[in-house]
Amino acid sequence: MTIENITVVGAGVMGRGIAYVSAHAGIRTTLVDISEEQLRSALNELTRLAEKAVTLNKLSESAANELFSKLHTSLDLVNAVSDTDLVIEAVPEKRALKKHVLETVDQHAPSDIVIASNTSTISPTELGSYTKRPEKVAAMHFFNPVHRMKLVEIVKGLETSRETVQIIREVAERMNKETVEVNEFPGFVTSRISAMVGNEAFYMLQEGVASAEDIDKAIKLGLNYPMGPLELGDLVGLDTRLNNLKYLHETLGEKFRPAPLLEQYVKAGRLGRKTGRGVYDYSTDGEVVKK
Ligand SMILES: NC(=O)c1ccc[n+]([C@@H]2O[C@H](COP(=O)([O-])OP(=O)(O)OC[C@H]3O[C@@H](n4cnc5c(N)ncnc54)[C@H](O)[C@@H]3O)[C@@H](O)[C@H]2O)c1
Repeated sequence: MTIENITVVGAGVMGRGIAYVSAHAGIRTTLVDISEEQLRSALNELTRLAEKAVTLNKLSESAANELFSKLHTSLDLVNAVSDTDLVIEAVPEKRALKKHVLETVDQHAPSDIVIASNTSTISPTELGSYTKRPEKVAAMHFFNPVHRMKLVEIVKGLETSRETVQIIREVAERMNKETVEVNEFPGFVTSRISAMVGNEAFYMLQEGVASAEDIDKAIKLGLNYPMGPLELGDLVGLDTRLNNLKYLHETLGEKFRPAPLLEQYVKAGRLGRKTGRGVYDYSTDGEVVKK
């Protein structure tokens, strides 16, 4: 089956990035959200991204025009999925919400198409059970920022067919990504490690082991990570990080108990770059202004 149309559900941090690489791959892409504001903000951000790529000679003017001719937005999920070749779900990491969205997609999308989820942690078997086509459901886990990060983790559920894995792999390759195939375990490979390190950094911040800057600097320069765990948390979104940790705590046990300081930041609305403030302050053009 040739994939010519992709519907991405959720236009947040990840969905907009996935829509960008999908349209860039020449695939007609519809980005769906319940919020008009999110769709507007996604288009603004993607326009800035493409303009920057053109300035840096990474994208030609005509390729940028072609990209935006392939990219559409919609507030109507039912209509968007009724004629599509692949759905990639990227709504927040909340099981009840994913269940609702996947049930709706399953009901209205053609019965032979694959439904992929960008979940960071949730079992693809469980996601598949929300549909009547579990063999056509898998996790297709992109990384942030999507246009720059090379990896897509493909995570199989109990019923996921070889054909489904193959379809997802081919689409990921068209988007210029490398893939790894992972068996189902909560948090897969990457989210499990990332959540553990990020949570530990929050415990250290809470205990006063070092300042946020010095924790990040130590991990970058001492352990050769490209980003510190606290700045990465701000990029991911602290609410997303907390949701991931809650799920891993529930499924894998005590070692994933979320740091109280992280819970406090989320309660205060300090969600990271997307709200202008997390561990660091980004109130001036997304740059760190105060640490
Ligand atoms: N943020 C990351 O770095 C990252 C990395 C990999 C995977 N993920 C996963 O990707 C998924 C999305 O995360 P995010 O960070 O993009 O979240 P986000 O909060 O930035 O965006 C989620 C979007 O979904 C929309 N939405 C909510 N309910 C909806 C519905 N019923 N129908 C359509 N849209 C709806 C919201 O309006 C919002 O725009 C989560 O499963 C998360 O675990 C996140």
